[in-house]
Amino acid sequence: MNRIDGLLSRMTLAEKLGQLTMTASSYAVTGPVIAGDSTQSIIDGTIGNLLNMVGPGPTHEMQRLAVERSRLGIPLLIGLDIIHGHRTLFPIPLAEAGIFDEAVWERTAREAAREGAADGLALTFAPMLDVSRDLRWGRTAEGPGEDPWLNVRIARAKVRGFQGADLAAADALAACAKHFVAYGPVAGGREYAAVDISERTLREVHLPGFAAAVEAGVATLMPSFTDLNGVPMTAHVPLLRDWLRGAHGFDGVIISDYHAIAELINHGVAADLVDAAVLALKAGVDIDMMADAYRHGLPVALEQGRVSMDEIDACVRRVLRLKEQLGLFDDPYRRGAQAEAPAVIAERHAYARDVARKAIVLLRNELRNESRNESRNALRNERETLPLPSSVKTLCVLGPLADAASEMKGPWWGAGEHEPHVSVLAGLRAALPDVDLRHAPGVAIDDADDGGIAAAAALCDGADAVILCLGERATMSGEAASRAHPGLPGRQQALAEAVIARAHAQGTPVTVILFSGRPLVIPWLADRADALIAAWFLGVEAGHAIADVLTGQVSPSGRTTMSWPRALGQVPIHYAQRPSGRPMNPADYYTSKYQDVANDPLYPFGHGLTYGRFRYADLRVEPRNVRRDDVIDVSVELRNDGTREAEETVFLFVRDKVAQVTRPLLELKGYAKLKLAPGQAGRARIELPAAELAYLGPDLEPVFEAGEVEILVGPSAERAGLLAETIALLE
Ligand code: NOJ
Repeated sequence: MNRIDGLLSRMTLAEKLGQLTMTASSYAVTGPVIAGDSTQSIIDGTIGNLLNMVGPGPTHEMQRLAVERSRLGIPLLIGLDIIHGHRTLFPIPLAEAGIFDEAVWERTAREAAREGAADGLALTFAPMLDVSRDLRWGRTAEGPGEDPWLNVRIARAKVRGFQGADLAAADALAACAKHFVAYGPVAGGREYAAVDISERTLREVHLPGFAAAVEAGVATLMPSFTDLNGVPMTAHVPLLRDWLRGAHGFDGVIISDYHAIAELINHGVAADLVDAAVLALKAGVDIDMMADAYRHGLPVALEQGRVSMDEIDACVRRVLRLKEQLGLFDDPYRRGAQAEAPAVIAERHAYARDVARKAIVLLRNELRNESRNESRNALRNERETLPLPSSVKTLCVLGPLADAASEMKGPWWGAGEHEPHVSVLAGLRAALPDVDLRHAPGVAIDDADDGGIAAAAALCDGADAVILCLGERATMSGEAASRAHPGLPGRQQALAEAVIARAHAQGTPVTVILFSGRPLVIPWLADRADALIAAWFLGVEAGHAIADVLTGQVSPSGRTTMSWPRALGQVPIHYAQRPSGRPMNPADYYTSKYQDVANDPLYPFGHGLTYGRFRYADLRVEPRNVRRDDVIDVSVELRNDGTREAEETVFLFVRDKVAQVTRPLLELKGYAKLKLAPGQAGRARIELPAAELAYLGPDLEPVFEAGEVEILVGPSAERAGLLAETIALLE
C-alpha cells in the first residue's frame, strides 16, 4: 500500500477534515479569524494547513507539532501571499507586466520562491491572473492588466518561476492560480460585488490565463470570492468540476478564498454552514480557508447522506499528494533549513533595482528650450524634459510621495513590511550628491489640509527643475480598495496647480511622478506636466530605480498594460474593443461616441516612451497565404533617430476583417524588444503561429477559417501608429 492509501485507511473523519482545513496564524489577516487554539488542533490532527506565518523558527515549530506530536505525523502545508516579492519586494504585478519580458516575470517569481521557502513556506497564493479593464477595482494592481494574451504568457512564466523544475526542491513553492474566474469585472468596479458577463467574454478573456496555468502544472488554484452570472465561484460546479477538473484535467488542490465557503450564506445560496460545506465540496473545493465550514458542516452532511466519504477522501488524497510532491513527508524541515547568504540577498536587491527601472513608464516627455532665455538659439537648444540635464544644480523634490519610503512597498508587501525601502528623495540624494535638493511634501497623501502648499511652491523659485511626486497610498489599491474617484487623492491637485504655475512662471520644467496601483484619471496633469512618469509601486529599490531613469543612467522602457482613460465615464476602457455598426465619425451625429470626451484613451495599452526616438518602416510578413500549421514571420525595421541608446518594445496585433462573429478591432498576438544605439537600425522579429488566428465561433467552438487578416505592428495599441499588412488565411 502506498503512503497516501495507508494514511487514508488509518485516518478518522476529524483527521481527514483537518487536512481539508487551513487556518491563519496571527501574522496577517484578510478577514475574520477562526477562534481557538491552533496549536492543540495541530497536535490533534484537526488542522492540517496554515497561512500567514513566516520564518524558519515559527514554521518549524508548528511543523514539529504536526510531525512529531500528532498521531499520524502528517506535515503541515504552510502558505502566504507572496504576490510581488517576499522580503525583497519587486514592482507590483501590474507594473511588472509592462516589462514584457518572460525571463523577468519568471525570475522575480523564482527569487520570491527562494526567499519564501527560506522562510519555511511551501505555498504562495499567486499568481493572480485576473484580467482587469476597470481601474476602479483595486485588485487591478495585483494582476496583468487588460489583455488575455499577455495574461497567458505571465501565467506560464510565474508558475515556472514559483514552482521551479522540481516541486520537492528546498527552494520551490507550490503556486496558486487565482482568482478563478472573472473577478475583474465586478459590477461598478466595487470589490467583492457581483459579476455578470457573457459566456464569450468569459472564454475569450478570463479563462485562457487559467488554462495556461493548468497546462504549466500549477499545483493549486483558488476560486474567487465573487459570483459569476448568479453562481458563486466557490460553488461553481460547471467551471470547477466540468471545465477545470474535467476538460482541463486539473488534478491539483483547490483552496477556497479566505472565509469564502461561509460567505455562500451571504451570497444567498446556502442556508447555513452545513449547506455551504456541501456546495463547496460538491464543486470540488479541497481546502477550506478560514471558514471552518468543513470541520463543522461535513460531519453533519455525512450523517444526513448529503455527501459521501468517497467525496471527502478524494479531497484528502489530493492534499496529501501535494504534500508528498512538495517533499514534506520526506523532510518537512528542508524549507527554511538554511538561511540565505548575504551575498545572495544583495544580488537580489540589485536585480530588484534592475526590474524596477524596467517597470517605469514614461508617459510624456515634452520638448522644451534648454536655455532659460527662450529667444536665444531656441531651436538648437531644444531637448526633452527628461533625462535631467547635467547642468541641474538645484532640484526641487516635492509632493507627499517624494519621501514616502514605506509607500514604495505597494499593496501586497508580504514579509517585506519592515524591510527598508528607498524613497525618491533618498534615491536622488545618492545619485546626485552635488546637487542642492530642496524638499517639501506640500500636502499629505489624503487629507484636506492644504496649509503646506504655498511654502512647497515657493521652493521652486530659482530651481533648475522640479520633481513632483504624487499619487495613491499603497493601501489605496489591492484587496478591498475600490475607488470611485480614481484621480489624485486629498489636496494633491491643488498642490500640482500651485507648483506647476510657480515653476512655469520661471520657465522651470516640472516632472510629475505618479505612484498608483492602477491607471489614474489625470487629464489636467497629463496636459500640464512637462514630463509624466507612471512609477506604480516599484518595491524595495524604488528610489534608486527612479533616480537611474531621471538622471539618464538608463532609458525607461516600461509600457502600460492598461489603458489610461481621459474621463472616468470611459471606464471600462480597453484597446480590444469590438467594432460598432456605427463607428465613431465626428461629422455624423448618430455614431458611437461621447458628446463630451473623445473615445480613445489618454494613453493606450502598450504606451511608454523611451529616451530613444524610434522610427518604424518596412513591415514584412511571410508567407502572405497562410495555412493553419504555418508560422508567420513578421518583421519590421526600427531606427533609433534619437541621441541615446534605448530599448523599444514592438507589438504585434491582428484584426480579423470578416468573421462569423464580431472580432476585436485589435488583438495582441506578440511582442519583441530591440535595443538600439543612437543612429543604429535593426530588425525586430516576431513569430506568429497561424493557429493563434483561430477564434471562438458562434457556438463558442474554435474556428480557423479562410479570409483576410490584418497584421499590425507598432509601439502601442494606438491605431494611427501601426504599420499594417494583410494576409490571406487558407482553409
Ligand atoms: C483574500 C484574498 O482574496 C486572496 O487573494 C488571498 O490569497 C487570501 N485572502 C489569503 O490572504
